[in-house]
Amino acid sequence: MLTLKKVILAGVCLLAASPMFGWEKDILISTPNTSLLLSAPENEVLKIAYYGEKIGNADVENIYSSGLAFKEQAYPAFGSNGENETALAVQHADGNMSLDLVVKNVFSEEQTDSQITTIVMQDRVYPFIVKVFYKAYKNLDVIETWTEITNGEKKPLTLLRYASAFLPIRQGDVWVSHLHGSWGAEGGVVTEPLRPGMLVVKNHDGVRNSHTSHAEVMISLDGKPTEQTGRVIGAALCWSGNFRLSFDTDYNRVHRFIAGIDWDYSQYSLEPEETFVTPELALTYSMEGLGGASRNFHHWGRETHLAHGSQMRDILLNSWEGVYLDIKEPEMHQMMDDIASMGGELFVMDDGWFGGKYKRNKDNAALGDWVTDKTKLPNDIAGLVNAAKERGIKFGIWIEPEMTNNQSELYEKHPDWIVCEPNREPHPGRGGTQLVLDLSNPDVQDFVFKVVDDLMTANPGIAYIKWDANMNIIDFGSSYLTRDKKSHLYVDFHRGFEKVCQRIREKYPDLVIQACASGGGRANYGVLPYFDEFWVSDNTDALQRIYMQWGTSYFFPAVAMASHVSAAPNHQTGRIIPLKFRFDVAMTGRLGMEIQPKNMTEEEKDFSRKAIATYKEIRPVVQQGDLYRLISPYDKQGVASLMYVAPDKQQAVFYAYKLEHYVNQTIPAFCMAGLDPDKRYRVTELNVTDKQPLTMEGKVFSGRFLMDNGLVLPLRTEYASRVLRLEAVN
Ligand code: GLA
Repeated sequence: MLTLKKVILAGVCLLAASPMFGWEKDILISTPNTSLLLSAPENEVLKIAYYGEKIGNADVENIYSSGLAFKEQAYPAFGSNGENETALAVQHADGNMSLDLVVKNVFSEEQTDSQITTIVMQDRVYPFIVKVFYKAYKNLDVIETWTEITNGEKKPLTLLRYASAFLPIRQGDVWVSHLHGSWGAEGGVVTEPLRPGMLVVKNHDGVRNSHTSHAEVMISLDGKPTEQTGRVIGAALCWSGNFRLSFDTDYNRVHRFIAGIDWDYSQYSLEPEETFVTPELALTYSMEGLGGASRNFHHWGRETHLAHGSQMRDILLNSWEGVYLDIKEPEMHQMMDDIASMGGELFVMDDGWFGGKYKRNKDNAALGDWVTDKTKLPNDIAGLVNAAKERGIKFGIWIEPEMTNNQSELYEKHPDWIVCEPNREPHPGRGGTQLVLDLSNPDVQDFVFKVVDDLMTANPGIAYIKWDANMNIIDFGSSYLTRDKKSHLYVDFHRGFEKVCQRIREKYPDLVIQACASGGGRANYGVLPYFDEFWVSDNTDALQRIYMQWGTSYFFPAVAMASHVSAAPNHQTGRIIPLKFRFDVAMTGRLGMEIQPKNMTEEEKDFSRKAIATYKEIRPVVQQGDLYRLISPYDKQGVASLMYVAPDKQQAVFYAYKLEHYVNQTIPAFCMAGLDPDKRYRVTELNVTDKQPLTMEGKVFSGRFLMDNGLVLPLRTEYASRVLRLEAVN
């Protein structure tokens, strides 16, 4: 396993660089518009010389000879690198804490969609091997990088830090945009300049990793970020657990970026011959500002890191805000009738349907006991699947399989299955009783898989699962992990989770699964390969959603962002917002409803019916088109605006929202983006509530005019909003 045959690189450009500078072997890795340049001379340190706009072979020597190359290690390790920040640190079996890695070999593997370059490094003294991978997509401007760390020594050693990647960022006025929030306010945009010192973006929840900080960042190289222009590097760590993204800026404003699993409280022992694989860090680069980097992530996400990313999503009604835990068969039927009559395609029964000895009437019991509560649903799940079918819609169901309550039959049977040391009293979470199951334990993994498998075996008609996770790790510990592996918990929990997801996907490849975690706690590219979408937030207030969805769209495509129309007053904020505005916001993502339709007026139902029909028409553009964010709600101009453009630029959907309302307010012109300047587009307003048509209704404008001059739109009242459809005319 450890003896690797040298191969000549196929398809990766190997260049003999100027011997003057001592470079012997350069590797140029490119996507359609970006390049990464490595220097990998045999028996020397691997360096990264460049990452940015695409360069050709002819540029490589110039980059070196003009002093433009970074002179940084590509994967710096502790012990031979002075005081610099490192990506890797180990303690060998003999206690030695140093590493001195040099290049031993380079491989290239051609795949249908990509080219994977592998640089094999070994310590100069110890049989300790690190392979660094770079996967460059042929049709996407993303390079994924990760490592495999192998203990070739005779005894176990300990990994003390094990980042996925290291990236030198250019010197200069570099700004970082990242997301931060809390329950009910996920995805807030934080934009800040990098100043000398460290900036660390990390999450330590243990189970969910995107309520507070997110594992993705945008790095703007030309000062304060803008949407349409400027050079931006985007980075997304594909990991569902604790992470650490750090920027180390020296006094000369040279910035270094290190990203990976957070190594805090997580030293990892490796047995002889054992390999640790770090999660991928997806890197993108764009000269088209934040928007360009977002579009790159959206394309890559849909094509490679989101389950069924290129398929359309159904319009659904979820029962949570409609009935909460008060699940009853007649209400389920009534909700199905209502959503079917409004043109919806799927009904999802949320929490409250299960429980045997312990009933799920409150949020404090029965998690783990996944048996139908027949007092609520006498005809079981099968009855509901049939009822949905009779109404011409699909059926979906809520589960929270990684969790239990101390009031459950599962906990009575398996008290040792929870995350906690056996000699400690756990501190329960939600409802004062909730506990996290220990997914590092293979028996627990089997159980969690079986929750889904049993449901699906008994009810193959289930089309959708909402998979929730409503607790963090409070009591660190595991009855399963042995003494020397206790510190693996934060990592092995997620390895276990991933194994379960893989088994589910192998058996149920077509099932639609939503990642929910007390709202937006699992919006990350570690889970999305197995999940079709995520619940952006438990906060369904349309005004606050504009901010949350704005931030979330930095990294995630609309097709993955579940966005529901709910009641007024809103249950989280109490705000009363017109139904049109609520639809206009939800229609920028995967549209759904989360409401008791019984409480809606006929007029509201009628509006909803029409809006749902409209969404069906624009769904391909919203869910698969290119996003252009036009006016940010964070810029405090009193409005926000964005649009989606179909890949062939034949169609677009434009949205504008009024966020503040006062007399004599200046509303800016809405300059569009992403259109073909030479095409002519007919403007049609959607979700119309005004009696008077817009002055531009039905008129045709060139793409150039719409982008350069823009449209001035009336937004007369509080919570006014406009949605326009643009269709190219011949
Ligand atoms: C979490 C979810 C909600 C809902 C409840 C059910 O809070 O985020 O959407 O499913 O659980 O208990």
